Amino acid sequence: MDNIDNQAAASWLQSVRWNSAENQLDLLDQRLLPESIVYLPLTTSEQVWDAIKQLAVRGAPAIGITAAFGVYLGVRDVTGSREKLLDAVAKQCEYLATSRPTAVNLFWALDRMKQRAVVLAAEGGEPEAMKQALLDEARLIQSEDEQTCRLIGEHALALFEDGMGVLTHCNAGGLATARYGTATAPMYLAQERGIQLKVYADETRPVLQGARLTAFELQQAGVDVTLICDNMSGAVMSKGWVQAAIVGTDRVAANGDVANKIGTYSVAVLAKAHGIPFYVACPMSSIDLSTPTGADIPIEERHEDEITQGFGKRTAPQGVKVFNPAFDITPNEYVTAIITEKGVIRAPYQDNLKKLFTEE
Ligand code: MRU
Repeated sequence: MDNIDNQAAASWLQSVRWNSAENQLDLLDQRLLPESIVYLPLTTSEQVWDAIKQLAVRGAPAIGITAAFGVYLGVRDVTGSREKLLDAVAKQCEYLATSRPTAVNLFWALDRMKQRAVVLAAEGGEPEAMKQALLDEARLIQSEDEQTCRLIGEHALALFEDGMGVLTHCNAGGLATARYGTATAPMYLAQERGIQLKVYADETRPVLQGARLTAFELQQAGVDVTLICDNMSGAVMSKGWVQAAIVGTDRVAANGDVANKIGTYSVAVLAKAHGIPFYVACPMSSIDLSTPTGADIPIEERHEDEITQGFGKRTAPQGVKVFNPAFDITPNEYVTAIITEKGVIRAPYQDNLKKLFTEE
C-alpha cells in the first residue's frame, strides 16, 4: 500500500475517512501510532481486507465501518445488470468476512450492506444509483456509530463519580470507532463537563493497543491517563486507586459472556476480587444473540512474532512454542453491567439482552 502523510482534518484523530475528492478510503494506519500519523489511501476491497487483517485498522466498530466502505470499493467498477451487482455485493461481503473472525461488528456491517443492496434491487434501483446508495449506507454506518458512542458515554458516565479511578484495557477508544469510543466515551464526556476521572490504561500486550492508542488518544484530549503494564492492574486495584473497570468488546454472546482483547478476563477476575465493578461498553451491533455462549465465539490466533519480536527485536528464544490468542472470554458472572446506546443492562443477561432486541 502507498502511504500518504496527511494531518487529520478533524480536531480528534479519525480512524476512517471517506475521501470524496479522490473517491477513496483514507485509513489511519494505527500500527504506526503514536509515532506517525499516516493515512493509507485505499481504493480496492483487497487493500481493505489486508488493512483489517494486518491491524492497520482495528477495534470492532471501526472494522465494521471499514468493511462497509470495502464493499463499495469492491463493487464500484462492476458494470452490467442489477443482478450482477447484487451478486458482486454478496461475493464482496463473503470475502471481507474472512479478514478477522471475532468482532461481530464486521459481520453485522457486511450483512447490513448486503441487505441494503437487496432492498435497493427489489425497489428496481439502477446499478449506478445502487452503488451510490451503498456508499451512502457505509457513511451512515459511520455517522450512526458516532451518535451511538456518545449515547454509550452518557449512560456510562451516569455510573461514574467525580474523582474516580477508572481502569481500561486495550483500546476501545475513538480510534476503534467513529468517534468517542465505547469504554472511553464516558472519559471524553467527563472531560467536556469538567468531571475529573483518573484513568489507568493497561498497556495491553502483545501489540500494545493500550500504550500506543489509548494512552495516546486520551493524553491528546487532555484526559488524566496513567499507563501501566498489564501485570500491574492487580497492584493498582489493591492500592484502592481504581473504583471501576470499563472495557469494550468484540462480541457479547446471548448469555452475556464477553469476548475482548486478551487479558480482559484477568482484569475482570481481579476487579471482582477487589469488589470493583467491571463494565462492558458496546454498541448493540456487538451483541450477537445467535452465539449462545462465550465458548461459541471464534477466537482469532495471531502470528507468534507478535510475542517473540513484538518490540522490533527478538525477546524470546528461536523455536520456542507460542500461544497467541488475540481475545479471551470473560464469563458473564464477572460482568457488572453491559452499557449500550439503549442503556445499562444487568444480569440475568440471557433474558435482559433478549428483551433489549425484542423491544426494538
Ligand atoms: O485486536 P483488536 O485491536 O482489534 O482488538 C480490539 C479490542 O479488543 C477492543 O477492545 C474491542 O474491539 C472493542 S472496540 C470499541
